[in-house]
Amino acid sequence: MKLVRSLGRITPALKQFPEKEKRIGFVPTMGAFHEGHISLIRKAKKENDVVVVSIFVNPTQFAPNEDYEKYPRDIRRDREKAKNAGCDILFCPDTGSMYPKGYNTYVEVKKAAALMCGRSRPGHFRGVTTICAKLFNIITPDTVYFGRKDYQQALIVKNMVNDLNMDLKIKILPIVREKSGIALSSRNRYLLPAQREDAKLLYQALKKARKIIRAGERDVSRIRSAIRKVLNKPGINIDYISIASPDTLKRKRKIDENVLIALAAKIGKVRLIDNMLVGVGIKNKGAKIC
Ligand code: PAF
Repeated sequence: MKLVRSLGRITPALKQFPEKEKRIGFVPTMGAFHEGHISLIRKAKKENDVVVVSIFVNPTQFAPNEDYEKYPRDIRRDREKAKNAGCDILFCPDTGSMYPKGYNTYVEVKKAAALMCGRSRPGHFRGVTTICAKLFNIITPDTVYFGRKDYQQALIVKNMVNDLNMDLKIKILPIVREKSGIALSSRNRYLLPAQREDAKLLYQALKKARKIIRAGERDVSRIRSAIRKVLNKPGINIDYISIASPDTLKRKRKIDENVLIALAAKIGKVRLIDNMLVGVGIKNKGAKIC
């Protein structure tokens, strides 16, 4: 595996691979790898000739009050993990070269980016789509891999790729969970032992919602109440509970198609998200995203 730390070296590194065996699979990340990231790299390895993984903690997707400075960074550990999972090029550019002085261009997807996490983190998705557009232009991948835990992010990036006619495919892979049910996230490391108990309730709330939908409940307000009941603990501060169309993220009143149930909550100071797609055997109205 080649480690490329400078923007100027990435194109020559890609050119070293022979042109005719060059299906490029790309996994954009902010590092602090866990099994979720590793599953994306392994899948990219299976499906491509060259696997590029980027590690870049992107300042434009963090608000000033968020954890940009504190975000876990451990390239040495990540480097080993990426190599073992099949990465060919690990690209870790510096902030100054990605956003040089005078940088002035942003990519913004509307609608879906204003909902769910977009409400509580204004500007977050603009940062995500901007850095993804830049990375896609630099790496020129055939396929880009995202995890479904960040469902909204993956959908928004997919919207950008369609709207801007980018010549690449987005693949969204399943959420990887701990045995306890907690969805893997680089931020889980901030959780204290008692908070981990609270964090488990997110998945339990999703399972509860799925169970009552499967039992025939179609009224969204009753499903939301059932979720609230599970999460009703002093250590849990709910940001949103969204029961929405998986294609547009628009909230539903009645369940009349397969739905995305998405949650965000603060456990102490740690903001966690989780989601579940629940099928009701009715064809979705829009284009299917996963
Ligand atoms: O999901 C992430 O790690 C980031 O949002 C991404 C896609 C790498 C963009 O910075």
